[in-house]
Amino acid sequence: MINLRVAGTGSYLPPTCVTNEELARKMETSDEWIRSRTGIRERRLLAAGDVPSDMGVEAARRALLAAGRTTEDIGLLIVASNVFEQPVPGTAPFISKGLGLPGDVPFLDLMAGCSGFVFAVAVAGGMLSSGTARSVMVVGHEALSRFVSWEDRSTCVLFGDGAGAVLLEPAAGESGILGVSLHGDPSKVHLLRIESGGVRAPSTVEDVRQGRHLLKMEGEGVFRSAVHMMVRASLEALAHAGLGVEDVDWWIPHQANVRIIEAFARRLAIPESRVFVNIDRVANTSTASIPIGLDELVRAGRVREGDVLALTAFGAGASYGTVVLRW
Ligand code: UT7
Repeated sequence: MINLRVAGTGSYLPPTCVTNEELARKMETSDEWIRSRTGIRERRLLAAGDVPSDMGVEAARRALLAAGRTTEDIGLLIVASNVFEQPVPGTAPFISKGLGLPGDVPFLDLMAGCSGFVFAVAVAGGMLSSGTARSVMVVGHEALSRFVSWEDRSTCVLFGDGAGAVLLEPAAGESGILGVSLHGDPSKVHLLRIESGGVRAPSTVEDVRQGRHLLKMEGEGVFRSAVHMMVRASLEALAHAGLGVEDVDWWIPHQANVRIIEAFARRLAIPESRVFVNIDRVANTSTASIPIGLDELVRAGRVREGDVLALTAFGAGASYGTVVLRW
């Protein structure tokens, strides 16, 4: 067990809300198709001119406020995302700058597909337990609306933008990370990808014309793997924790598709009332989906001291993992 406490949570959703009906006016789709296939009704999109780190900074500020802490209390900043503000440096320095962190606070970017936040919490736990960091602000933020093709209806309707953050601190009591299971399956590297823009394929005019700088997804393949991956990681993390499925008070799964979440819950016989779902309002915010969900649960007063929470995700790579926490 890694003793720590979640001192505060925060999240930020951009104000621009786009409903399925609005999308249906611009492309060959319908509210009925999107809702019945995914559970999504609307999504928030980052306004033109804004950058992803603006959202990460706001979520982190709210987490600090909730914790009653200041920027002086952040010992390490970990930023999980699949989008970069610019190729070099990563986004973490921009969030550090936006928060006004002192010049000696380390920061790092972590990219692990939509599982990034789960991986980042596990890394943060290790840094706290080894004494390497005195506290860790973990931020998950995403603006995939900037990397989808708005002409590819099978992908663009799925994603929304947003950010979430948690401040983790060492603690002496019962709270902390009880179990972790992290995995990667590179045989599924093709399922979710942006092909050009890196060293393998620097963007050429032709690449951009063909849309290779935008997100491509083999939705059915992702769907088929997702349930199996979250089930495996969750059972392993619970086994490490010495707990059973019935001991978890709140499951916060990555919000990719309500049908994936329901199939996952069915496989583990988890009652619907213990599974957090907000995909109808925010769509798939990738790395940000779990910290946004956690913050919404906490702010609604639904998480009590001693509760067991399971955060589980899958994503590009393919990466997948579960962290089990006691609040
Ligand atoms: O964070 C991880 C990221 N990604 C995911 O988790 C995605 C996982 N996959 C999924 O959520 C689902 O596979 C989708 C929602 C992407 C698709 O649902 P599906 O039930 O697997 O639908 P489908 O792929 O079988 O598509 C059925 C039809 C196709 O038409 P035809 O070929 O049957 O005539 C598509 O062209 O639906 C069509 N279609 C659409 N129709 C209306 C695809 N997108 C749309 C759309 N509106 N937006």
